[in-house]
Amino acid sequence: MKAQNIILIGPMGSGKSTIGKILANKLHREFRDSDHFIEEKTGVDIGRIFDIEGENGFRDRESNALIELLGHHSRVVATGGGSVLRKENQALLISCGYIIFLDTTVNQQLQRLRRDKKRPLLQTDNPRRRLEALFDERRPIYLQIADLAVKTDRKSARKLASEIINQLPDNLL
Ligand code: S3P
Repeated sequence: MKAQNIILIGPMGSGKSTIGKILANKLHREFRDSDHFIEEKTGVDIGRIFDIEGENGFRDRESNALIELLGHHSRVVATGGGSVLRKENQALLISCGYIIFLDTTVNQQLQRLRRDKKRPLLQTDNPRRRLEALFDERRPIYLQIADLAVKTDRKSARKLASEIINQLPDNLL
């Protein structure tokens, strides 16, 4: 039977960790965050991993983190925004849980991330252009693999978490 994790996907600044924690709390599940897991394991932050190993090195670590985190059955797992890029990750996510896509506009991302110094992909002269390019590339993938897509606009994290819970299939409650 398919492992019944609840998996949050979506771009940087869509609220995956915040909403994931609320969902885990309400559903009495363990919450794990892929980026935090990688930082704990390596002892350095994501920016340093990008500096030393490049994006590809980070993606290898991310794929391994997902395998470890999704080996359990009833967690809520927040993934990194680029975790859906590799086909093998897509297959893993699909086989290991119920996938929720937090569908966020670039404006909303910019609002949330305007002071961010931690995300290597945003350390550019034009973060808006970068986010738009990532949006165009990744949104079709998010939509394709999601079991549920929710628009995050103008809603508090709590409200959104309640809306998600109302739409979850019974076997996940
Ligand atoms: C990335 C998103 C980040 C982190 C890394 C790369 C991406 O995670 O994994 O900076 O490629 O979109 P969040 O989505 O949690 O910010």
